[in-house]
Amino acid sequence: GAASKGDYRHYMLKEIYEQPTVIQAVLEGRLSGNSVLIESFGPDAQALFQKARQIHIIACGTSYHAAMVARYWLERYACVPVQVEVASEYRYRHPVVPEGALFVTLSQSGETADTLAALRFAKTLGYVGTLAICNVPGSSLVRESDMTLMTRAGPEIGVASTKAFTTQLVALMLLTLSVSKAKGQEEHAGIVEALQTLPDVCKQTLALDSQIEQLSQAFAEKHHALFLGRGAHYPIALEGALKLKEISYIHAEAYPAGELKHGPLALVDSEMPVISVAPNDDLLEKLKSNLQEVRARGGQLFVFADENVGIKPEDNIQVIELPHIHEALAPLLYTLPLQLLSYHVAVLKGTDVDQPRNLAKSVTVE
Ligand code: G6P
Repeated sequence: GAASKGDYRHYMLKEIYEQPTVIQAVLEGRLSGNSVLIESFGPDAQALFQKARQIHIIACGTSYHAAMVARYWLERYACVPVQVEVASEYRYRHPVVPEGALFVTLSQSGETADTLAALRFAKTLGYVGTLAICNVPGSSLVRESDMTLMTRAGPEIGVASTKAFTTQLVALMLLTLSVSKAKGQEEHAGIVEALQTLPDVCKQTLALDSQIEQLSQAFAEKHHALFLGRGAHYPIALEGALKLKEISYIHAEAYPAGELKHGPLALVDSEMPVISVAPNDDLLEKLKSNLQEVRARGGQLFVFADENVGIKPEDNIQVIELPHIHEALAPLLYTLPLQLLSYHVAVLKGTDVDQPRNLAKSVTVE
C-alpha cells in the first residue's frame, strides 16, 4: 500500500521513484487534446482567472520553492504579474492588495499553521478569490478556499518533500496554462504536448540513479555546498540546497548564477563543491561563463546538463546529461537528480533520511 516502503530502503527513495506515476495522476482528466481544462480548478475558475490582474502566492518550505517557479511561469506564459512570499512573513506585514488580485496557497499537507493563518488573513483583504493547491483532500486549506486543485501525490511520509513538490509544479503549470487560456491568450499547445511526455522523461532521468550515487561520494566529507541556477532554475537550486541541508546536514546555499560575482565567489575553493543545473535555454551561454568563473577559482563543478548543450567533462567538471525536454518543463526534470544526490549523500553519512533531526513533516503550530 501507499504507506509501506515496499522494496525501498527509505520512504524518500520510494517517493522519488513514484514521481512518474504521480505526475501522470495529477494530469489525469485535466487536459483535452492540446489544451488545458480550466474547470479542473472548479466551476468559478474561468471567471476568476479572467478577472485576475495579479496573483499572490503564499507557502512555506519546499512549497515556497514551487511558488517561486510559478512566478517565472505565470509571468512568462500567462503575462500576469505575480508576487510570491513565505507565509510567516506575509501574515505579519501589512500587504497592499491591488484591485483584482487572486490569492493562491500551496501546501502539501493543507495544515501548515502559517499558511492557513495567511489564508485567513488574506480573506479580510479584498482579494477576488482564493485558490489552494494541496495534496490532502479535506484539509483545512482546501475547506477554506474558493477554488482547489488536488495534487494527487498520495501520502508522503519522508519529511523531506519530493513527489509533493514535483506534483505541485505540474499543478502550477496547469494553473499557468489555465490563466492564459481564460484570458483569451495563447493555449501553449507545445507545453501541453510536452506535459504528456513528462512521466516518461522522468523515468529516463531516474535511470541516472547509479551515476548520481557515484557522484555523491564526493560530498560525504564536505561541509559546504553551493547550488547555482538561473531563471526558473534558481528556485530549483534553492530546493536542491534545502534537500541537502535537511537530510545530510551539510550546509548548502543556492544562488542565481548571475549573483556569484557579488559575494559567493569569495567562498569558492577546492573544498567547495558547486552544483549547477544547465538546461538548454536562452540563459545557457551566460550560465556557462558563470561556471568558468567557478572553475578559474579551483572550484569542483557538478553539472546537470541537457544532452544537447555540449557541456563536456573536464578537469574539475563532472557532467551528468539529462534527456532533452521542452524548456518550460525543465525545472521539473532537473529537480529529480538533485533529490537523488541529497538522498545518496545522506545515506553515505548515515543520517535518519526519512526523519531528519529537528524537523517535522507538517508544522501545525506556529
Ligand atoms: C515542513 C516540512 C517541509 C514542507 C513545509 C511546508 O517544514 O518539513 O517539507 O515543505 O513544512 O509544508 P506544506 O505541507 O505546507 O507544504
